[in-house]
Amino acid sequence: MAILKIARMGHPVLARKADPVGDPTATEVRRLVRDMIETMIDAPGAGLAAPQVHVPLRVVVFQAPKERADPSLAEAELFEHTAPLTVLINPGWESLDDSSEGGWEGCLSVPGLRGYVERAAHIRYWGLDLEGQRVERTARGFHARAVQHELDHLDGILYPSRMGDLSRLIFDSEMKHWLEQQA
Ligand code: NI
Repeated sequence: MAILKIARMGHPVLARKADPVGDPTATEVRRLVRDMIETMIDAPGAGLAAPQVHVPLRVVVFQAPKERADPSLAEAELFEHTAPLTVLINPGWESLDDSSEGGWEGCLSVPGLRGYVERAAHIRYWGLDLEGQRVERTARGFHARAVQHELDHLDGILYPSRMGDLSRLIFDSEMKHWLEQQA
C-alpha cells in the first residue's frame, strides 16, 4: 500500500481525457485502487479519480456517508443519498430529470478552496468493479454531486470550470461567512 502524490490544478494529467481500462480485474488495477483508497482516506477526501494521482485511466473511488447527507432527510429517503466506499471503472452517468441543485465543493487537486457548483440533482450512474461486475445505482444529493465531480476528472474537468459565478470561489477559511449567511 502507498499514499500517492496528488496532482494539483495546472498539471496536464488533470486536463486530459483519461483512457478506458482494458481489464478491470488486472493486478495493476487492483493495486492502483488500493493505493487510491489509502490516499483518499489519508487526505482526507470523499472521492478521488486516477488522474489525480497522475494515472490517466478511467477509475474513481468515492464514498457518500450518511453524515454528508442532508440532516433533514428521513431514514427511508437516505438510500439514494448515500453510498459505501465504491470503486467505478470505465464509468458513465446520466441525469434522470431536469432538476439541478447548487452545493459547495472542494477538490484535493485544488487545495484550500471551495466553490459553489450547480449539478444535476437526480442521476443514474454505472461502471465496473474490480471483479469486472457491473455496478449501477441512482443517486441524489451529495452522492450525486460526488459522482459527477469524480467523473468530470476523467474528462479533464475541474469544478471551477463548472461554476457559473466565480465570486463563489472562496478560501476554505472563509466558508464560515457563507454558512452564516445561509443560516
Ligand atoms: Ni476533485
